[in-house]
Amino acid sequence: MPEPTALAPSTLAGPVGAAAPGAAAGDNEFVMTRGDFDLVRRLIHRHAGIHLADGKEAMVYGRLARRLRETGQASFTNYLQQFERTVAAGGPAAEAEVQQFINCLTTNLTSFFREEHHFPALAEDLRARAALGAQPLRVWCSAASTGEEPYSIALTALEALGASARVEILATDIDTQVLATAERGVYAADARGLTEQRLRAGFQRGTGPNSGRIRVRPELARLVRFSAFNLVTGDWSRLGQPFDVIFCRNVMIYFDAPTQRRVLKHMHGVLKPGGLLYVGHSENFSDARELFRLRGKTVYERA
Ligand SMILES: C[S@@+](CC[C@H](N)C(=O)[O-])C[C@H]1O[C@@H](n2cnc3c(N)ncnc32)[C@H](O)[C@@H]1O
Repeated sequence: MPEPTALAPSTLAGPVGAAAPGAAAGDNEFVMTRGDFDLVRRLIHRHAGIHLADGKEAMVYGRLARRLRETGQASFTNYLQQFERTVAAGGPAAEAEVQQFINCLTTNLTSFFREEHHFPALAEDLRARAALGAQPLRVWCSAASTGEEPYSIALTALEALGASARVEILATDIDTQVLATAERGVYAADARGLTEQRLRAGFQRGTGPNSGRIRVRPELARLVRFSAFNLVTGDWSRLGQPFDVIFCRNVMIYFDAPTQRRVLKHMHGVLKPGGLLYVGHSENFSDARELFRLRGKTVYERA
């Protein structure tokens, strides 16, 4: 087996070039070898289904360096050896370490009413379903990140069906850290994507030390329930009754084709016949025609 080559510090320069106190300027704090990077890739694929492309070395370095500091490891090789020993031993410590590893490596970019065209379509669909008497309506937001997406869904439901809306929104994500933020429901008052009207309808403005922040109103929060769920290794039977609508946006792009296919099959299984699947702008599942038919711009209907 060839010797692992230490990536030249310059490979990892730029935003990740955090130098340890006392280290020579421009040096990285930790050595990350090609072998370390490849092992991280295999591990994150195994535990989260995330496919890390070549060229993501700097990103991996930047995101895991904090964990090395927290665990007191001097190099990626040491950290990964310890990680594998902990996981092999099993039990709660293994689960916790895997969770930390996943939390470091997920990309959580999101905003309120992202991909805006989905929300009028959702409002129309919720009204049509409510008119059929199919309440409570069940919506699953399957990559909820810090909560902007499920709260946008909840606001849309209130706008479409009124204050007595009988809608249950299950908001899940693999990353427990973003879920904690989502559950807190506190955001910057100038958060992207919120109109003044929606801000007033859905949020309370902080005062004093909380000025500049907004908090989700209880009538919005009551519609949303948060829970951790891994789309790749999760137990789909624990999701409960079938859903009317699933939002699965901007997460499948991180999965390879076989993983996407497995997730789509599961989604098909937990959607009601005729239920809708909303996906991200760069996600296309037209190949899976026997499972989903394209119904609108990045909206699919369960076949
Ligand atoms: C880029 S964010 C998208 C957030 C939101 N859906 C949106 O479109 O704005 C991707 C989210 O997918 C989550 N994620 C990644 N792998 C996952 C998995 N295997 N199971 C569940 N969630 C996952 C990440 O933690 C992250 O919060």
